Amino acid sequence: MRMRNKYRKPTNLRCNAGSLCSLSAAVWGLVGCLLMLHFYSVLHQKVVQGGDIQMRMSQNPLIREFEQVEEENIQIPPPRGKRSPRAIKRRPRRATALIDEFLDESSQLRHVFFPDQRTAIDPKKDARNDSFSYYPGRIWLDTDGNPIQAHGGGILYDEKLRTYFWYGEYKDGPTYHGHKKGAARVDIIGVGCYSSKDLWTWKNEGIVLAAEETSETHDLHKSNVLERPKVVFNDKTGKYVMWMHIDDANYTKASVGVAISNSPTGPFDYLYSRRPHGFDSRDMAIFKDDDGVAYLIYSSDDNSELHIGPLNQDYLDVTRVVRRILVGQHREAPALFKHEGTYYMITSGCTGWAPNEALAHAAESILGPWETMGNPCVGGNKDFRLTTFFAQSTFVLPLPGLPGSFIFMADRWNPADLRNSRYVWLPLTVGGAADGPLEYNFGFPLWSRVSIYWHKRWRLPYTWSGKE
Ligand code: GAL
Repeated sequence: MRMRNKYRKPTNLRCNAGSLCSLSAAVWGLVGCLLMLHFYSVLHQKVVQGGDIQMRMSQNPLIREFEQVEEENIQIPPPRGKRSPRAIKRRPRRATALIDEFLDESSQLRHVFFPDQRTAIDPKKDARNDSFSYYPGRIWLDTDGNPIQAHGGGILYDEKLRTYFWYGEYKDGPTYHGHKKGAARVDIIGVGCYSSKDLWTWKNEGIVLAAEETSETHDLHKSNVLERPKVVFNDKTGKYVMWMHIDDANYTKASVGVAISNSPTGPFDYLYSRRPHGFDSRDMAIFKDDDGVAYLIYSSDDNSELHIGPLNQDYLDVTRVVRRILVGQHREAPALFKHEGTYYMITSGCTGWAPNEALAHAAESILGPWETMGNPCVGGNKDFRLTTFFAQSTFVLPLPGLPGSFIFMADRWNPADLRNSRYVWLPLTVGGAADGPLEYNFGFPLWSRVSIYWHKRWRLPYTWSGKE
């Protein structure tokens, strides 16, 4: 007699005991797999967040050294001036953050942030142990023995000449304030250019785009602003094209300028300035993609968002295509790069010459959407990480032959004496799970972590051959 189970739901599935069994095994198997995937991703996240460095370290022994975490323990000096013992009892001393010391020109720690001439990196002299060593923040001399003047710069690798060219603001003039409340400034002198085969020994190629001496209405008149020059080579026209931030002394012109040359060492002919796509444009960068399309990215709408769009074929103008990205995030100093088909970008906050916290962003398509991943800085100490090692992003240079490795280039601005601003070059690697990705793909973070490692001293691997 067939017993009827009144609790059994009627089913449309007609199956025998064997297939029922295999169906439930398949379902449980799937559940098990999903659970394992979930545990794996949670565990992986925990390990990364917990700071287990080994998990982050690259498999490539050549770049292991880049990823060593170096701590900084800097003692903050006690406050100057006499304080009565009663006052000390009544009010506990406010802990001075390192950033206060950085911003204080007369701080006893000044030499930590701006080491003096005696410690300068001199590629002509440091021939032995120290050759090829980068010391972020130290004065860096060119092959003539003069401090390199290439602030807010970027690097072009010329395939034909097998040479790196570093362009930047040549700021070797007096710093002054145009107005009481105006930002510290240096008159435009021009764009400096340096060449190198090894990314360490730099020869001064001179000022490749010079200030305009006479005409006061010219964009490049010394009383204006020329910042963040970037040069790209156009394979179709065979020209070197320079884009830069052009402004007046009050930063109200908010435009981009374009110049062109037949040679990487100039002279560049200045063409014009304009507001790209009709928008205000301040900090900016140019990124040339693998397919030869170059993009302009700029802070706009009073620095509240970034805009990105392709240049036309000859790189001399923008096209109609433009996207608003990181809207409302107030980011500037963009430095874009690409790794394994994903686009990454480092930006800073908007605090003038004062340093602030960097953020890393990622996107599958260069036009967006872009997601913000978090602070990429590793090592030093908390103040170092919250101030991008007391510097501001300007460029990220891929290291050929070392996939996933880049040089992060930043400026340690010295607003009291801008010509004496320093360069902070550090290794940047892409790999491992991101700390706080917003999007998950079946429990797996979509983006890799971008890490910039603090080092007092570091160098490219001895065997690195990508330079030739
Ligand atoms: C920063 C910008 C620099 C320079 C400076 C002037 O925000 O990144 O390039 O413009 O302001 O105060």
